[in-house]
Amino acid sequence: MATVKERIAQMNAKKEHIMQGGGAKRIAKQHEKGKFTARERLDLLFDEGTFVELDLFVKHHCTNFGQDKKEIPADGIVTGYGTVDGRLVYAFAEDFTVEGGSLGEMHAKKIWKVQDMALKMGAPLIGINDSGGARIQEGVNALSGYGGIFYRNTKASGIIPQISVIMGPCAGGAVYSPALTDFIYMVKQSSHMFITGPAVIKSVTAEEVTFEELGGAMTHNIQSGVAHFAAEDERDCIEQIKYLLSFLPSNNMEDAPFVPTEDDPSRIEERLNTIIPDNPSVPYDMKEVIRLLVDDGEFYESQKFYARNIITCFARFAGRTVGIIANQPKELAGCLDINASDKAGRFIRFCDAFNIPLVNLVDVPGFLPGTNQELGGIIRHGAKMLYAYCEATVPKITLILRKAYGGAYIAMCCRELGADQVMAWPTAEIAVMGAAGAANIIFRKDPDKDAKTQEYIEEFATPYKAASEGYVDMVIEPSETRPRIITALNMLANKRKGRPAKKHGNVPL
Ligand code: HXC
Repeated sequence: MATVKERIAQMNAKKEHIMQGGGAKRIAKQHEKGKFTARERLDLLFDEGTFVELDLFVKHHCTNFGQDKKEIPADGIVTGYGTVDGRLVYAFAEDFTVEGGSLGEMHAKKIWKVQDMALKMGAPLIGINDSGGARIQEGVNALSGYGGIFYRNTKASGIIPQISVIMGPCAGGAVYSPALTDFIYMVKQSSHMFITGPAVIKSVTAEEVTFEELGGAMTHNIQSGVAHFAAEDERDCIEQIKYLLSFLPSNNMEDAPFVPTEDDPSRIEERLNTIIPDNPSVPYDMKEVIRLLVDDGEFYESQKFYARNIITCFARFAGRTVGIIANQPKELAGCLDINASDKAGRFIRFCDAFNIPLVNLVDVPGFLPGTNQELGGIIRHGAKMLYAYCEATVPKITLILRKAYGGAYIAMCCRELGADQVMAWPTAEIAVMGAAGAANIIFRKDPDKDAKTQEYIEEFATPYKAASEGYVDMVIEPSETRPRIITALNMLANKRKGRPAKKHGNVPL
């Protein structure tokens, strides 16, 4: 029988051995690719010395194909909890140095455990993916592992923020756990996501495509819209995750953290009085407007590179997080299209689930016309955005800066979609359509077409018709927008809004 001292030494030796993961050679290979190991990533993420590892001693029990003779330290994954900027966060990180980070039954069960704990404790969960996918030797047990992860992702959706980080391969059905979470980070060059890889695609469709073109960080940030954030490298990625967390509550029962600011809530911003060009068809940069309005000019964009005709970002007013949804006149004239509707719809639902008030900045000439859009289902996709706004019970503030035409006026959260305060600048134009389009329809045969068009402009290319009907609460000087928004947010801080009981709605998908 070993002495107590010997048993402690044994324990330490075992721990040390397991923590070597796949060993020095594989760790060196990981570093050569510009990648950190699972443990190094968690060290960067958590406040120093706070990470508590769970299930270090977990072992697989697969006996197929000689696996019983194989040691798979910690079953290829590091799981646990700690604090990030002082707040409790759960995390798992797949260890590519061990069996390619592949997911076997016990690897999955370690993920299940932190998923269950994060949900129970109401704390965010961060999943770092770096894996060859289902561990082939474990067959259906590996598939079942994924099924259980997806089930838990869905159960936790809307209760705790779930953030997925892709720091290597993420292939096959494995991509669906990240896809079920709230946000996906990808690292340029070293992360790839796809259902079937380049080789399978070549054999089935004869198409030739590189890993990067098919599933690289910028492919998913620019084209597919699968990813929400792109990072230059792993360090940058982890810094960005911490920044995102600073805007979010830990769960759906809490408010986002208050971040004190020196930025005066009454700040008058003269530049806003000249930001809208005299000619209404000339674009301007909506990001400049956002920068001038929010605390310290600071905001963090989700899906920055995707559907750039709409901006979705987190920012703060007087220290409180808001979600901003803004048309971008610089891109596609700020029209709404399929991708913009999907992007905005999802962002609105996230904010609503996590008690983050919505500020909508409107300059939208309409839905984008074209067969691409119609045949691609703009009706179905546009409906997602409408549904999301109607369903959202958080404070909703709409500011109309310039154009607000037709269905797009409604879709950007008009009063009837539940806006609690609607403000307009004197440059606002609220109508069924722009003057030229309207004249071509209603004054087509009128000999006084030009005069009538002018009359239409005077009547509708202003905020006053809408304000006279009470659809707009106030017409404000642009320079005073920041204090107006802050006053409205303060007024709405205790907003209560119920919804009829139901199992769930049928959001258009
Ligand atoms: C078991 C795996 C594995 C897997 C990698 N390894 N993937 N072991 N099951 N899925 C092992 C390798 O055998 C190797 O072991 C080690 O991990 C490192 O892998 P390498 O191939 O040497 O690394 P690299 O060259 O960097 O290539 C990485 C890779 C490649 C691109 C990920 O390994 C690969 O293509 N793997 C298979 C991917 C795949 O098709 N997975 C199934 C997807 S379908 P040794 O001992 O030699 O170091 C799926 C279904 C999920 O996941 C469904 C959920 C619903």
